[in-house]
Amino acid sequence: MRLLRSTTEGFDEAVADVLAGAIAERPGAVLLLATGNTPIGGFRVLARRAAEGAVDVSAVRVVQLDEYVGVPDDDRRSLYGWLEREFLAPLGIPAERVTRFDVAAPEDVASSCRAVDAAIAGLGGVDLALLGVGPNGHLGFNEPPSPADAPTREVPLAPASIVSNAVYWGGEDQVPRTAVTVGMAPILAARQIALVVRGAHKRAILRQTLEGPETADVPASLVRRAARLTVVADGAALGDD
Ligand code: PGA
Repeated sequence: MRLLRSTTEGFDEAVADVLAGAIAERPGAVLLLATGNTPIGGFRVLARRAAEGAVDVSAVRVVQLDEYVGVPDDDRRSLYGWLEREFLAPLGIPAERVTRFDVAAPEDVASSCRAVDAAIAGLGGVDLALLGVGPNGHLGFNEPPSPADAPTREVPLAPASIVSNAVYWGGEDQVPRTAVTVGMAPILAARQIALVVRGAHKRAILRQTLEGPETADVPASLVRRAARLTVVADGAALGDD
């Protein structure tokens, strides 16, 4: 494991370094990208570097990690909407280089999950999966328990995820009850996994992820079997005093 210990101020630069590193290794890198608060500053730093000509994203491919079921694209809270606003548009990545879920209509869910897995296989797998860790140890919406062979699928949101996402939806009762997520199996098959973890509220789950038992009950702990694992964490998450 490579631990990139950052200051709070340096966190976004460190996240951008990981993304830029994967793109430098392979200009057509396949990036599996989380949304959520943690990676967004890094996306902005990457966009600035690309605008300055320091990073070339003209061949990069992007795969969406997860999405709420039944939420239309033009809803600001759709996770694709976040990805579009915070990554694809600023970096000028066109739709033909993006693999995404199409689950606004519940009847499309199963076929969309199969299509995303087929697309990942067709791209030759994921080069870098950049993932946040939920307070309950979820990766994407692989809620506990999610075993290492869990496929891309629809999942009911865990109570902890409903609570942590309520802020975006105007209350817990407004949060969609199910989501789709790229499964643990395609995530763990990525050639590199980067966990991005910031803040004291993630300290306990980061410790369980890196030092507790490898268990489906803490899906993030299973990344320790990844081919190549990078952890970007600030002092607050690491428990530095
Ligand atoms: P966050 O979300 O980056 O907004 O903390 C992480 C997660 O719940 O996966």
